[in-house]
Amino acid sequence: MSFTLPELPYAYEALQPYMSKETLEYHHDKHHAAYVTNANNLIKDSGLDGKSLEDVVKDSFGKNVPLFNNAAQHYNHLHFWNWLKPNGGGAIPGKIEKAIIDSLGSVAKAKEDFIQAGVTQFGSGWAWLSVKDGKIIVSKTPNGENPLIHGAAPILGVDVWEHSYYIDYRNRRPDYLKAFVDNLINWEYVEQLYEKAIA
Ligand SMILES: [Fe+2]
Repeated sequence: MSFTLPELPYAYEALQPYMSKETLEYHHDKHHAAYVTNANNLIKDSGLDGKSLEDVVKDSFGKNVPLFNNAAQHYNHLHFWNWLKPNGGGAIPGKIEKAIIDSLGSVAKAKEDFIQAGVTQFGSGWAWLSVKDGKIIVSKTPNGENPLIHGAAPILGVDVWEHSYYIDYRNRRPDYLKAFVDNLINWEYVEQLYEKAIA
């Protein structure tokens, strides 16, 4: 089994003005592509070839750092393209909305905590909503780490590596995070992952 770079599920211009064609060309065609190429090279002779991507991520953590970094970033980006959509960030489907309110108090608080996690992640990394023990939690991770290695199922993640926002927002990471939450999140995909996580 080898890892493959998926096509973006929308046109490169589709997320403008919140995320530019240039950002997506670099982020998808160069950065994500490099994680796929590296993961495919590193998985040979790792003893993990043939396992699912999730298992490669979990089993390489702390044991095979180069493979983990690239496989985890492949996993994170596979989902990241689907966490974005044109005209996103609008009404939240009922089931996931209720789950967010039950776990985090309110949608507004969840959005605020998620943005704050992204703002305060020092250096490269990700901010997350994930499901742990049946509840939705907010967290942040450095570099390629994700909630899978902390016993949780990721349902929403935002990439706060500079390659995700520097072309469009320069150093204004908080503005990028606000645009992500208000205008880009594909909540239907978040709900799909939530349903899978609690099944
Ligand atoms: Fe990225």
